Amino acid sequence: MKDIITLGIESSCDETAVSVVKNGREVLSNVINTQIPIHTLYGGVVPEIASRNHIQNISAVTKEAIKQANIKFDDIDVVAVTYGPGLVGALLVGLSYAKALSYALQKPLVGVNHIEGHIAANYITYKELEPEFLCMMMSGGNTQIVQVKDYTQFELLGKTRDDAIGEAFDKVARVIELGYPGGPKVDKLAQEGKPTIELPKTHFDNLDFSFSGIKTAVINLHHKNPDINKADLCKSFEKSVTEVLIENIKKAIDITNIKTVVLAGGVSANSYIRNEFLQLQNKGINVYMPEMALCTDNAAMIACAGYYNYINGKISDLSLNAIPDLKL
Ligand code: KG4
Repeated sequence: MKDIITLGIESSCDETAVSVVKNGREVLSNVINTQIPIHTLYGGVVPEIASRNHIQNISAVTKEAIKQANIKFDDIDVVAVTYGPGLVGALLVGLSYAKALSYALQKPLVGVNHIEGHIAANYITYKELEPEFLCMMMSGGNTQIVQVKDYTQFELLGKTRDDAIGEAFDKVARVIELGYPGGPKVDKLAQEGKPTIELPKTHFDNLDFSFSGIKTAVINLHHKNPDINKADLCKSFEKSVTEVLIENIKKAIDITNIKTVVLAGGVSANSYIRNEFLQLQNKGINVYMPEMALCTDNAAMIACAGYYNYINGKISDLSLNAIPDLKL
């Protein structure tokens, strides 16, 4: 069978990323231009600045991805692109570029849901992984438990009712003055701390989450006691949120009887969360998590998800639009 070369494009937030992937799972190149140093000046992503930087970078990043993959533009079989969820201006840059490329090359355009992309990152790390499984999806914009029934078939089992878990990490980091992006900084500092501080955990009867209560509790504690041990606070925060994640995933396993759990999204790079989920293996659960470089935004995961959309006949056309609040 002929190889299928997919070019993936990702520009939903503050990373301009382009990747070339062969047959869905073999990464030939994975180029990421991050804007983190630019947005750090403002303490968070500034949408207008993100869009402008995507425009400046998209062409060079694409050419670099083609070069590193050692292919020519004509070798591309499919152009896959994130069309949501994300910042609308940022999404539109990648989407417009992908449409132009698809039209110029006369190759199919495939729209990819960014969340599906995060899930697909695991197919690159684990060549043997196939659906069906449960996915604990944890990013800056989403926190969900997803039943992945097939490569393009998903059922949402639970979701956050307020803040995404990544948002809570970033907010905690900002309040205790660790800077942006907060998640990795909280992770690092927590490694020096002890979980000595009691923090509230929110439980629901179903598989939903809520992280606004614990976020506010951390903020209040720090305001009342600015000399509080920050490492202990970070560790206590991580421990409390992780307990809720594990509790809900255990409920999901009981409800569905699916014994494979896959992590996805930027927060799955967290060392404490990774370790705690690995403990589930002692209970007979298979646990998978993307390699670190594929946890946060990248285009290899978009090319991978795009490939599975393509072989399942999910092909878009040039009327494809950006959908900032796209759901699974
Ligand atoms: O998946 P992602 O790159 O972007 C979205 O699609 O949202 O996730 C970004 C989020 C940010 O909130 C960032 O702080 C968090 O992932 N993050 C982490 C870690 N690395 C990234 N959170 C906790 N621990 C980490 N090591």
